[in-house]
Amino acid sequence: MNLIEVTGGRPLQGEIRVQGAKNSVLPILAATILSGGVCEIQRCPRLSDVDSAIRILRYLGCDVHWEAETLVVDTTVLQRCDIPDAMMREMRSSVIFLGAILARIGQVDMSYPGGCELGPRPIDFHLSALRSLGADITENAGVLHCDTTGLQGTEIVLSLPSVGATENVILAACGAEGTTVLHNAAREPEIADLQKFLCLCGAEVRGAGSSTVVIEGKRPLHGCRHQVIADRIAAATYLAAGAAAGGEICLQGVDYRHLSTVTTALSEAGCRIRSDNHVITLYSDGHLRAISPIRTSPYPGFPTDAQAVLMAALLKSTGTTVFVENIFENRYRHVAELTRMGADIRIEGRVAVVCGVEKLRGTSVQATDLRGGAALVVAGLQAEGVTQVGNIHHIERGYNDFVENLTHLGAEIRRTDT
Ligand code: UD1
Repeated sequence: MNLIEVTGGRPLQGEIRVQGAKNSVLPILAATILSGGVCEIQRCPRLSDVDSAIRILRYLGCDVHWEAETLVVDTTVLQRCDIPDAMMREMRSSVIFLGAILARIGQVDMSYPGGCELGPRPIDFHLSALRSLGADITENAGVLHCDTTGLQGTEIVLSLPSVGATENVILAACGAEGTTVLHNAAREPEIADLQKFLCLCGAEVRGAGSSTVVIEGKRPLHGCRHQVIADRIAAATYLAAGAAAGGEICLQGVDYRHLSTVTTALSEAGCRIRSDNHVITLYSDGHLRAISPIRTSPYPGFPTDAQAVLMAALLKSTGTTVFVENIFENRYRHVAELTRMGADIRIEGRVAVVCGVEKLRGTSVQATDLRGGAALVVAGLQAEGVTQVGNIHHIERGYNDFVENLTHLGAEIRRTDT
């Protein structure tokens, strides 16, 4: 069994470059299918979710290889239009292949996607939006069969600004005749990155980053070279680690505008944060204060993906902080593990109340999901003794060189393979 072992009590010091964004690169890898050419994806993070996307691309007949940090994907040939159930279950983002394959060949067979267990994660918005573009979708024993005689641009209104549904619509609409206008689109920076990639391939997409995205379909597409944006959630995780452990850390290659809700919260907790262009520096004396309630919401609100790591940073703060999780119903699974370490957290429905404690103690805990797993490491950095985190495959889904980066910053941490 693989574990991450952290010995708490060491301040962090130094500089790291933040990885490319998982939530950008996964839809972009699906989007390479539309290009029908060779795409060079620079700053591609090495993650198990990226490996899952590569397996899907290769299964479909594409040629994929690494050149250092660049992933080269050749989608000139697409031999299949189905994705096996085992591949679909590996990650949530596999669902974005639906829009991409539909746009390219007009037929897809796939099952429901997997991913972190954060409560129900339906895909009804995806399916109804694709239907209004002209996809005929039937479901049989968990398998979706989608085909179309031709997608047609239309107006679509999402009932919630779902990230995945926005991405699926944009991709499918690139293969539709005429104009698609998507209202109440998700505004996450990763959507704007997807638009940038598609435009480099020759697509005509505008408005990503705002609530209305307009796609002119059926443009002739080709391969391109694109650099993925920085992972704001990985950055938030390192900031939370620095805040909790104390010390001074510098993150290179980030866009501070994407992190403003997180840096505002950490500043309120007592950290000193400087940011300019592509660098964020955080100084913490390791003694944090409780902060005003944190309510997760779609971008530009506080990201649900940063909730667990911020909570972990505040476990020893003076006072009480309230968290309200508005995106996913079951996103407090890390709390039971944090409690084993001595944290004082009460949950009622979507609300978690964190009362700062004087000390945390290292013990054996299990990662329950990707961000919850990272939160256990953040807690371990400020705990007495050794924290052993199990089930680290969850963490490896989304963090590139997590242990190496924290070691570089001075943490006493190692990965053990037993
Ligand atoms: C994406 C991110 C994930 C992040 C989440 C919210 C990726 C790979 N994942 O996930 O890291 O936590 O955004 O920022 O980019 N919903 C429905 N029906 C649907 C789709 C969504 O009811 O068809 C609901 C969900 O249950 C959830 C909310 O809408 O309550 C937001 O989900 P969504 O934005 O779609 O999240 P994901 O795209 O799955």
